[in-house]
Amino acid sequence: MSPTAAAEHLLPGGLVLRGCRPGDLEQVGALLADRGEPADALDHRLVVEDPDTGWEATAVVVDGNRVVSTATLLAESVRLEDVVLPAGQVELVATDAAYEGRGLVRALMAWAHDRSAARGDLLQVMIGIPYFYRLFGYEYAIDVPPARPVHTLPAPAAGLRPATPADLPALARLQDAAQAGADVAMPHPAARLRWLVAHEASTTWVLDRDGAVVASARVPEPDDDVLVAEPTAVDDAAAAGLLAGVTALAAGRPVRVTDRPASLPGRAWADRLGAGSDLAEQYYVRVPEPGALLEALRPVLGRRAGAVGARRDVVVSTYGASWRLPATDDGLGPVVAGGRLQAPGTAGGAGVAPDQVGALLLGPHGMHGLSRRRPDVYPGRDAELYEALFPPLTADLLTYYLPY
Ligand SMILES: CC(C)(COP(=O)(O)OP(=O)(O)OC[C@H]1O[C@@H](n2cnc3c(N)ncnc32)[C@H](O)[C@@H]1OP(=O)(O)O)[C@@H](O)C(=O)NCCC(=O)NCCS
Repeated sequence: MSPTAAAEHLLPGGLVLRGCRPGDLEQVGALLADRGEPADALDHRLVVEDPDTGWEATAVVVDGNRVVSTATLLAESVRLEDVVLPAGQVELVATDAAYEGRGLVRALMAWAHDRSAARGDLLQVMIGIPYFYRLFGYEYAIDVPPARPVHTLPAPAAGLRPATPADLPALARLQDAAQAGADVAMPHPAARLRWLVAHEASTTWVLDRDGAVVASARVPEPDDDVLVAEPTAVDDAAAAGLLAGVTALAAGRPVRVTDRPASLPGRAWADRLGAGSDLAEQYYVRVPEPGALLEALRPVLGRRAGAVGARRDVVVSTYGASWRLPATDDGLGPVVAGGRLQAPGTAGGAGVAPDQVGALLLGPHGMHGLSRRRPDVYPGRDAELYEALFPPLTADLLTYYLPY
């Protein structure tokens, strides 16, 4: 058996947690549709039938032959500057209403986190039910950019067409370019681009010019207004054509676009956009082993320490555990795990509560901002060094489900 396939696991009441099998597909789809959206059933089928993910991406809890709970772990990668971190994302979670409150999702989250750890993921990222996932080690860490109303729509124009599988390489290139300016980026893996082109919950539209795709956007089933998500464009003319095409699709409905300030459409449309909601919307992040994440980020941290001329050991404490990165001639040496360190300031270190590690390493506030919001995050005696090591970061995350 592969180390990541779900072993059969007996739960209280005779229920069994195990890997999803082709014979479960219809029941899993019906459960997801019942507890979520009808389109979730197809979203799930696309995942398990894709060779890049496969059946082992999903686990189910069964009561005899009846599927009563399910969750799926997707493989992601999160880029921080030039370091790519393997990550997991749990999606497509549901429990049969008659089986709620028995710890089935708790058991499925443990399965997902074990599987994620076994394949080497250094973190997990999620969107989902407010507060709920904090019960499983997640904390809000990275801002979701607001969807902003377009107050000056251009004249509507034809020209957009739904993307087809032939457009996948172009879509990947356009998204790479759109994300290039973000400090933290999570792309759509190739498999997910395939699912997005095939699924029903949103349509990926593309704009052609001289036989090439020059702009794209993902538009969920329109509601009272039309949401333009994940916009890309190669130049101002392409961005203008995309917006004119979306205006035609909207047929008089208001249009909102997801803010991508560092991307070409973000810049091209800036004068047309009103303010989005200022309610907090954030991605959840879980960092199971801060030391492993610090080690992976050592090249970035070494560069940042060097930029402020620091030549001293870096110490990061989550109070119950701590890690030292020794200063070397070439930057920072390999992470050395230490034990409990309640007062990291006395050791020339910084403190960060374990559930704030994701926010500190990937979030918009950095050490300076977080230490002004939370007493359990502080830079110790060398604020200049620890604020340089942990600066505020911009982020652009692409997910299967839109966080709107
Ligand atoms: C939310 C849902 C996945 C929970 O599944 P479940 O199998 O009942 O969850 P568990 O029994 O494993 O719950 C784990 C813990 O979370 C708590 N919990 C359950 N639902 C919760 C919720 N919505 N908010 C906060 N806590 C919740 C449980 O009390 C339990 O706490 P405990 O371990 O301290 O006893 C399930 O209710 C569901 O499918 N709901 C429909 C989908 C939905 O509501 N989606 C929201 C759309 S945004």
